[in-house]
Amino acid sequence: MDIKKGRLNTGYFFLGLFAFFIGLYPLRFIGLPYEDSLLGSKPQALLNSSIYLTAFYTHIFLGGLALLTGFSQFYKRLRVKRIGLHRTLGKIYVLSVLLSGISGLGIAFYATGGIIPALGFAGLAILWLYTTFNAYTSIKKGEVTNHQRWMIRSYALCFAAVTLRLYLPTFTGLLHMDFIPAYKIIAWLCWVPNILIAEIFIVRRLT
Ligand code: HEM
Repeated sequence: MDIKKGRLNTGYFFLGLFAFFIGLYPLRFIGLPYEDSLLGSKPQALLNSSIYLTAFYTHIFLGGLALLTGFSQFYKRLRVKRIGLHRTLGKIYVLSVLLSGISGLGIAFYATGGIIPALGFAGLAILWLYTTFNAYTSIKKGEVTNHQRWMIRSYALCFAAVTLRLYLPTFTGLLHMDFIPAYKIIAWLCWVPNILIAEIFIVRRLT
Protein backbone atom coordinates (compact mmCIF):
# COMPACT_ATOMS: atom_id res chain seq x y z
CA MET A 1 0.00 0.00 0.00
CA ASP A 2 1.13 3.53 -0.77
CA ILE A 3 2.28 4.84 2.68
CA LYS A 4 1.33 8.43 1.92
CA LYS A 5 -2.12 7.34 0.84
CA GLY A 6 -2.37 5.02 3.86
CA ARG A 7 -1.56 7.90 6.21
CA LEU A 8 -4.10 10.09 4.47
CA ASN A 9 -6.76 7.40 4.85
CA THR A 10 -5.98 6.96 8.56
CA GLY A 11 -6.14 10.74 9.05
CA TYR A 12 -9.42 10.89 7.14
CA PHE A 13 -10.83 8.09 9.29
CA PHE A 14 -10.03 9.88 12.55
CA LEU A 15 -11.30 13.23 11.29
CA GLY A 16 -14.50 11.45 10.31
CA LEU A 17 -14.83 9.88 13.73
CA PHE A 18 -14.55 13.28 15.45
CA ALA A 19 -16.92 14.90 12.92
CA PHE A 20 -19.46 12.15 13.60
CA PHE A 21 -19.43 12.36 17.39
CA ILE A 22 -19.25 16.16 17.65
CA GLY A 23 -21.82 16.46 14.86
CA LEU A 24 -24.25 14.48 17.02
CA TYR A 25 -23.22 16.27 20.24
CA PRO A 26 -25.90 19.04 19.94
CA LEU A 27 -28.59 16.33 20.34
CA ARG A 28 -27.52 16.29 23.98
CA PHE A 29 -29.23 19.69 24.37
CA ILE A 30 -32.69 18.27 23.68
CA GLY A 31 -34.65 18.60 26.91
CA LEU A 32 -31.49 19.48 28.86
CA PRO A 33 -32.09 22.03 31.66
CA TYR A 34 -30.19 25.30 31.05
CA GLU A 35 -28.20 24.84 34.29
CA ASP A 36 -26.60 21.68 32.90
CA SER A 37 -25.11 23.37 29.83
CA LEU A 38 -23.26 26.50 28.80
CA LEU A 39 -26.62 28.28 28.91
CA GLY A 40 -26.44 28.00 32.70
CA SER A 41 -23.73 30.69 32.66
CA LYS A 42 -25.98 33.19 30.83
CA PRO A 43 -27.92 36.03 32.51
CA GLN A 44 -31.63 35.37 33.02
CA ALA A 45 -32.55 38.26 30.67
CA LEU A 46 -30.81 36.44 27.80
CA LEU A 47 -32.53 33.16 28.64
CA ASN A 48 -35.88 34.98 28.54
CA SER A 49 -35.15 36.15 25.00
CA SER A 50 -36.81 33.91 22.43
CA ILE A 51 -34.61 35.51 19.74
CA TYR A 52 -31.43 34.47 21.54
CA LEU A 53 -32.70 30.95 22.24
CA THR A 54 -33.89 30.47 18.65
CA ALA A 55 -30.49 31.63 17.38
CA PHE A 56 -28.69 29.36 19.85
CA TYR A 57 -30.61 26.21 18.93
CA THR A 58 -30.55 27.01 15.19
CA HIS A 59 -26.80 27.43 15.50
CA ILE A 60 -26.05 24.22 17.35
CA PHE A 61 -28.36 21.84 15.44
CA LEU A 62 -27.52 23.13 11.97
CA GLY A 63 -23.83 23.37 12.95
CA GLY A 64 -24.02 19.66 13.78
CA LEU A 65 -25.66 18.96 10.42
CA ALA A 66 -22.93 20.94 8.62
CA LEU A 67 -20.24 18.93 10.39
CA LEU A 68 -21.94 15.63 9.47
CA THR A 69 -22.77 16.42 5.83
CA GLY A 70 -19.61 18.39 5.03
CA PHE A 71 -17.32 15.52 5.86
CA SER A 72 -18.67 13.12 3.26
CA GLN A 73 -18.03 15.68 0.52
CA PHE A 74 -14.29 14.99 0.59
CA TYR A 75 -14.83 11.31 -0.16
CA LYS A 76 -13.69 10.92 -3.77
CA ARG A 77 -15.77 7.83 -4.51
CA LEU A 78 -18.95 9.67 -3.57
CA ARG A 79 -18.06 12.55 -5.88
CA VAL A 80 -17.22 10.24 -8.77
CA LYS A 81 -19.94 7.61 -8.45
CA ARG A 82 -22.81 9.48 -6.78
CA ILE A 83 -22.54 13.03 -8.06
CA GLY A 84 -26.27 13.61 -7.42
CA LEU A 85 -25.85 12.71 -3.74
CA HIS A 86 -22.72 14.88 -3.54
CA ARG A 87 -24.76 17.83 -4.88
CA THR A 88 -27.67 17.24 -2.51
CA LEU A 89 -25.39 16.93 0.54
CA GLY A 90 -23.49 20.00 -0.67
CA LYS A 91 -26.70 22.04 -0.76
CA ILE A 92 -27.62 20.85 2.74
CA TYR A 93 -24.12 21.81 3.93
CA VAL A 94 -24.30 25.30 2.40
CA LEU A 95 -27.78 25.96 3.82
CA SER A 96 -26.74 24.67 7.25
CA VAL A 97 -23.66 26.90 7.25
CA LEU A 98 -25.72 29.89 6.18
CA LEU A 99 -28.19 29.50 9.05
CA SER A 100 -25.73 28.21 11.66
CA GLY A 101 -23.16 30.86 10.69
CA ILE A 102 -25.56 33.81 10.83
CA SER A 103 -27.04 32.66 14.15
CA GLY A 104 -23.51 31.85 15.42
CA LEU A 105 -22.51 35.42 14.59
CA GLY A 106 -25.51 36.71 16.55
CA ILE A 107 -24.86 34.65 19.69
CA ALA A 108 -21.11 35.40 19.48
CA PHE A 109 -21.78 38.83 20.99
CA TYR A 110 -23.12 37.20 24.15
CA ALA A 111 -20.26 34.70 24.46
CA THR A 112 -19.19 33.70 27.94
CA GLY A 113 -15.92 35.48 28.86
CA GLY A 114 -16.57 38.86 27.19
CA ILE A 115 -15.10 40.68 24.22
CA ILE A 116 -12.10 38.40 23.48
CA PRO A 117 -14.11 35.20 22.89
CA ALA A 118 -16.89 37.30 21.27
CA LEU A 119 -14.47 38.62 18.65
CA GLY A 120 -12.91 35.17 18.18
CA PHE A 121 -16.30 33.56 17.46
CA ALA A 122 -17.50 36.50 15.36
CA GLY A 123 -14.34 36.31 13.21
CA LEU A 124 -14.84 32.57 12.82
CA ALA A 125 -18.50 33.01 11.81
CA ILE A 126 -17.71 35.66 9.20
CA LEU A 127 -14.90 33.59 7.65
CA TRP A 128 -17.05 30.44 7.73
CA LEU A 129 -19.82 32.24 5.81
CA TYR A 130 -17.33 33.85 3.41
CA THR A 131 -15.43 30.66 2.53
CA THR A 132 -18.67 28.66 2.09
CA PHE A 133 -20.16 31.37 -0.12
CA ASN A 134 -17.04 31.26 -2.30
CA ALA A 135 -17.15 27.45 -2.45
CA TYR A 136 -20.74 27.66 -3.66
CA THR A 137 -20.27 30.43 -6.23
CA SER A 138 -17.10 28.85 -7.64
CA ILE A 139 -18.85 25.56 -8.40
CA LYS A 140 -21.78 27.45 -9.91
CA LYS A 141 -19.22 28.97 -12.30
CA GLY A 142 -17.78 25.51 -13.00
CA GLU A 143 -14.44 26.24 -11.30
CA VAL A 144 -13.87 22.81 -9.73
CA THR A 145 -10.37 23.34 -8.25
CA ASN A 146 -11.38 26.67 -6.73
CA HIS A 147 -14.48 25.02 -5.33
CA GLN A 148 -12.31 22.33 -3.68
CA ARG A 149 -9.97 24.94 -2.21
CA TRP A 150 -12.83 26.97 -0.69
CA MET A 151 -14.54 23.86 0.65
CA ILE A 152 -11.33 22.76 2.38
CA ARG A 153 -11.15 26.21 4.02
CA SER A 154 -14.83 26.18 4.93
CA TYR A 155 -14.68 22.72 6.48
CA ALA A 156 -11.44 23.48 8.34
CA LEU A 157 -13.35 26.34 9.99
CA CYS A 158 -16.37 24.10 10.62
CA PHE A 159 -13.95 21.75 12.37
CA ALA A 160 -13.43 24.46 15.03
CA ALA A 161 -16.41 22.80 16.72
CA VAL A 162 -14.26 19.68 17.13
CA THR A 163 -10.95 21.35 18.05
CA LEU A 164 -12.68 23.57 20.63
CA ARG A 165 -14.03 20.48 22.36
CA LEU A 166 -10.59 18.85 22.34
CA TYR A 167 -8.79 21.95 23.67
CA LEU A 168 -11.29 22.72 26.46
CA PRO A 169 -10.72 19.54 28.52
CA THR A 170 -6.98 19.74 27.73
CA PHE A 171 -6.67 23.29 29.08
CA THR A 172 -9.01 22.96 32.06
CA GLY A 173 -8.32 19.30 32.93
CA LEU A 174 -4.72 18.56 31.97
CA LEU A 175 -3.27 22.08 32.30
CA HIS A 176 -5.52 23.03 35.26
CA MET A 177 -6.44 26.41 33.77
CA ASP A 178 -9.59 28.20 34.95
CA PHE A 179 -12.46 28.02 32.46
CA ILE A 180 -12.69 31.72 31.49
CA PRO A 181 -8.99 32.36 30.68
CA ALA A 182 -8.91 29.04 28.82
CA TYR A 183 -12.07 29.96 26.89
CA LYS A 184 -10.58 33.32 25.85
CA ILE A 185 -7.62 31.54 24.27
CA ILE A 186 -9.60 28.67 22.79
CA ALA A 187 -12.16 30.92 21.05
CA TRP A 188 -9.23 31.82 18.75
CA LEU A 189 -7.10 28.70 18.99
CA CYS A 190 -10.01 26.51 17.83
CA TRP A 191 -9.89 27.98 14.30
CA VAL A 192 -6.74 30.00 13.51
CA PRO A 193 -4.42 26.93 13.29
CA ASN A 194 -7.16 25.05 11.36
CA ILE A 195 -7.22 27.61 8.56
CA LEU A 196 -3.41 27.73 8.44
CA ILE A 197 -3.25 23.93 8.16
CA ALA A 198 -5.89 24.09 5.42
CA GLU A 199 -3.74 26.60 3.49
CA ILE A 200 -0.68 24.36 3.80
CA PHE A 201 -2.72 21.39 2.61
CA ILE A 202 -4.03 23.39 -0.37
CA VAL A 203 -0.54 24.57 -1.36
CA ARG A 204 0.89 21.04 -1.12
CA ARG A 205 -1.91 19.15 -2.82
CA LEU A 206 -4.04 21.50 -4.87
CA THR A 207 -1.60 23.81 -6.67
C1 HEM B 1 -17.62 27.38 12.58
C2 HEM B 1 -18.35 28.37 13.02
C3 HEM B 1 -18.93 28.42 14.41
C4 HEM B 1 -19.07 29.54 15.16
C5 HEM B 1 -18.69 30.94 14.77
C6 HEM B 1 -19.65 29.15 16.41
C7 HEM B 1 -19.98 30.02 17.44
C8 HEM B 1 -20.54 29.65 18.64
C9 HEM B 1 -20.84 30.54 19.72
C10 HEM B 1 -20.61 32.04 19.71
C11 HEM B 1 -21.35 29.82 20.74
C12 HEM B 1 -21.80 30.35 22.11
C13 HEM B 1 -20.60 30.46 22.99
C14 HEM B 1 -20.90 31.20 24.27
O1 HEM B 1 -22.01 31.68 24.48
O2 HEM B 1 -19.95 31.30 25.07
C15 HEM B 1 -21.39 28.46 20.30
C16 HEM B 1 -21.86 27.41 21.05
C17 HEM B 1 -22.04 26.15 20.56
N1 HEM B 1 -21.76 25.71 19.29
FE1 HEM B 1 -20.87 26.76 17.83
N2 HEM B 1 -19.85 27.79 16.42
C18 HEM B 1 -19.44 27.30 15.19
C19 HEM B 1 -19.55 26.01 14.74
C20 HEM B 1 -20.25 25.02 15.38
C21 HEM B 1 -20.51 23.72 14.84
C22 HEM B 1 -20.07 23.22 13.47
C23 HEM B 1 -21.18 23.03 15.80
C24 HEM B 1 -21.61 21.60 15.68
C25 HEM B 1 -21.45 20.73 16.59
C26 HEM B 1 -21.36 23.91 16.94
C27 HEM B 1 -22.00 23.58 18.13
C28 HEM B 1 -22.11 24.40 19.22
C29 HEM B 1 -22.64 23.97 20.50
C30 HEM B 1 -23.16 22.58 20.84
C31 HEM B 1 -22.59 25.08 21.34
C32 HEM B 1 -23.07 25.15 22.80
C33 HEM B 1 -21.88 25.26 23.70
C34 HEM B 1 -21.41 23.96 24.28
O3 HEM B 1 -22.03 23.45 25.20
O4 HEM B 1 -20.39 23.45 23.78
N3 HEM B 1 -20.80 25.11 16.64
N4 HEM B 1 -20.89 28.37 19.02
